[in-house]
Amino acid sequence: MGNEGSLLVVGTGIQWGGQTTIAARHAIEKAERVLFVVADPWASQWVLSLNPRAEQLPYPLDGRPRRQIYSDMVERILSEVRLGRQVCAVFYGHPGFLTFPGHEAVRRARSEGFSARMLPGVSSLDCLIADLGLDPGHDGWQVFEATSFLTRPRQFDIHTSLILCQIGGIGNLGPFDPSDRERIRRGLSALGELLCSQFPATHEAVIYEASVHPVDPPRIERITLGRLEETSVSELSTLHVPPLERAPLDARMIARLGMAALTDEPDRKHLSRA
Ligand SMILES: C[S@@+](CC[C@H](N)C(=O)[O-])C[C@H]1O[C@@H](n2cnc3c(N)ncnc32)[C@H](O)[C@@H]1O
Repeated sequence: MGNEGSLLVVGTGIQWGGQTTIAARHAIEKAERVLFVVADPWASQWVLSLNPRAEQLPYPLDGRPRRQIYSDMVERILSEVRLGRQVCAVFYGHPGFLTFPGHEAVRRARSEGFSARMLPGVSSLDCLIADLGLDPGHDGWQVFEATSFLTRPRQFDIHTSLILCQIGGIGNLGPFDPSDRERIRRGLSALGELLCSQFPATHEAVIYEASVHPVDPPRIERITLGRLEETSVSELSTLHVPPLERAPLDARMIARLGMAALTDEPDRKHLSRA
């Protein structure tokens, strides 16, 4: 067996078609083998319409841990690359944001001597920037996966936007299960408690779900942190906690940098009120 097999890992964006980059679409159309995991049946049909040789990667809901499902996906992708094929693996959103098999497939293929590359895609974070009017370049942002945020406690900054992903799957090692209400409530309760140790319970945050179809609006639901556990969430829910206030200016640093004219701008919290 030679090393002529290759791998391109691409994303469809959150809205397939409209948010799929031209490069990703081209990769799907041209590949000898396409293996995909997307968020809904319409997106599956679309991938199949671009390349009839496409095959959906299994996502069994039989109690198997997610880790197992993901490593089976990586194995399946690699098995096609090892056959010497030009393979395109397709994931929804950005294929490298909270998508373990996307990164792992690239790492493994390269370690076995194959050419492998990931193309960037439009992630839920990109949609959040647009829908909530948030500019991470202005005052920064902090992004965490919610279970990791709780189980590996880290310092976080109340002067900087805080984004928590997978808030519907806190403490869940398997696929999202909407009927597991007790676990979802327990996770949100733990998250709410931790956030309220730094923010007032009355601080307003947003449950955000980017629209998956162009005709649907995004979900932008405001809740106070003290009532987080009462909120209904889905596998798509992301929490945005705006800063309490801007970080205070450091007068000594301003003098050192010769920026005497710099004064505090008005609070830009309003930017997150879409
Ligand atoms: C397995 S990750 C996949 C992320 C995806 N690769 C991306 O680029 O956004 C799933 C998590 O991403 C976030 N997410 C995915 N789709 C979303 C959407 N439509 N709106 C808001 N957040 C979303 C949520 O936090 C969700 O729990």
